[in-house]
Amino acid sequence: MTLVQRTLPAEPLADLDAYLAAGGGRAIANARRVEPVAIIDEVENAGLRGRGGAGFPTAVKWRTVAANCSPELPTTVVVNAAEGEPGTYKDRTILLRTPYAVLEGALVAARAVGAGDVIVAVKEGETAQIDRLTTAIAEMEAAGLLDGTPVAVVTGPHEYLFGEETALLEVVDGRQPFPRIAPPYRRGVIDVVEHDEDVGRHSGAPGHVELAGPGHETPAPPALVDNVETLANVVGIIAEGADWFRQLGTDRSPGTIVCTVTGDIAHPGVGEVALGTTIREAMDAIGGGASPGRPIKAVLGGVSAAPVPAALLDTPLTWEDMAAIGSGLGTGTLIVVGEATDMTAVAAGAARFLAVESCGQCTPCKADGLAIADALERLCAGSGSTRDVDAVAKALTTVADGARCNLASQQQAVVGAILDGWSDELAARATGRAGRIEPYLVAEVTSLADDEVTVDEGRRAKQPDWSYDRDWSGSFPADSR
Ligand SMILES: Cc1cc2nc3c(=O)[nH]c(=O)nc-3n(C[C@H](O)[C@H](O)[C@H](O)COP(=O)(O)O)c2cc1C
Ligand code: SF4
Repeated sequence: MTLVQRTLPAEPLADLDAYLAAGGGRAIANARRVEPVAIIDEVENAGLRGRGGAGFPTAVKWRTVAANCSPELPTTVVVNAAEGEPGTYKDRTILLRTPYAVLEGALVAARAVGAGDVIVAVKEGETAQIDRLTTAIAEMEAAGLLDGTPVAVVTGPHEYLFGEETALLEVVDGRQPFPRIAPPYRRGVIDVVEHDEDVGRHSGAPGHVELAGPGHETPAPPALVDNVETLANVVGIIAEGADWFRQLGTDRSPGTIVCTVTGDIAHPGVGEVALGTTIREAMDAIGGGASPGRPIKAVLGGVSAAPVPAALLDTPLTWEDMAAIGSGLGTGTLIVVGEATDMTAVAAGAARFLAVESCGQCTPCKADGLAIADALERLCAGSGSTRDVDAVAKALTTVADGARCNLASQQQAVVGAILDGWSDELAARATGRAGRIEPYLVAEVTSLADDEVTVDEGRRAKQPDWSYDRDWSGSFPADSR
């Protein structure tokens, strides 16, 4: 099984001329020649599903956003480039190699849903990606490819929740990344704020418009939030057609997926494979197989889906096959966990990540999440007992009660699967005779190139109030609103 290069070129494209020479620009030209509904029909025929984690059918979302447009205020296309899933670096790699395709996909989306502008939301400090984007925007504007559509880059914080689509819109509106109740098709970019420069944080005032959709007198505009890789895929579909897109992948999971392979692997890296490729084949093609002499115990898909045990590594990477084994395709994240690693440490690392990153708007998500992380850390420290295992199981039943976003359910998916699948390892740590082990570092990838991966070590010091103070204040991030 070999790597493919549909959305991820092998090397960075030098400039817009190189992109156009490689066939870029045809998608937006085609899109401008047809009615918007024909664009959405083609995306539907291609069977494109979102690559931001949930795998939602892209055409269904586009139709919903188009149907909820405001007669007064323009819809915005927001490119979700926040990429904070632990073990993931695929969106930032796509942006480094071809920001042009992501921007062209966003322009096609804008035409399809009748949007007036495009915003790319990216984490502050991702200077290489921000530079690539601002240069690409200027080149595309000079070449007339934007056709008058304003395109801006908005930077946001390093919190995991920045990538959750409604929290992303809060950040674009100038507030903290706390998820909303209203989905983006009901409430998009509401506080229309000024840009002093192309790159910078908005400073917004509270919005005074109603939710989008029928029955509202002053409807807010909706927003279309799509992932970087999703939009990069749109270019091929509109340039080459749905049948071409379906030449790779399976009937229910057409196309390709860009995977990030890290952990106990010979060569960490990012690569694109056809959907339907097995986990093992993707690991081998991108990462050169397991580290020598270190058999694989499991593969962790970030903090979004159940870890896959080694016995199931021949599962095809499709939405349906990954769901059938009780896991998920997520963002194509493959963190390879070696046989020597205790899964209690993996559970502790994932639980701490999610508990710290929870905003605390929903009390069970934060409080039960912290209780789960604390109990797992006692087991890692060797001071835990069966009471801690029971406490984890109990808190998992309530952690998602009344949850506003999916983060709380992720605790259930990841920690619950380890509790079920590796119960012997947790039981062994609950005897009172186990020595100390370090929780596994489950954290954001900060760079990945040439076999070198850097994971955010600093996150071990992050407190549940999102500060890096020596002690936790006892408050939740949402208390500061
Ligand atoms: C806690 C949390 C974090 C998320 N982080 C990201 C992210 O970093 N990037 C992303 O594209 N989607 C992220 N998502 C998913 C988005 O909410 C949303 O589903 C996605 O941007 C939709 O785009 P798509 O349909 O193209 O996949 C996250 C979701 C949750 C619940
Ligand atoms: S589920 Fe958790 S992360 Fe999501 S809004 Fe509620 S408290 Fe915040």
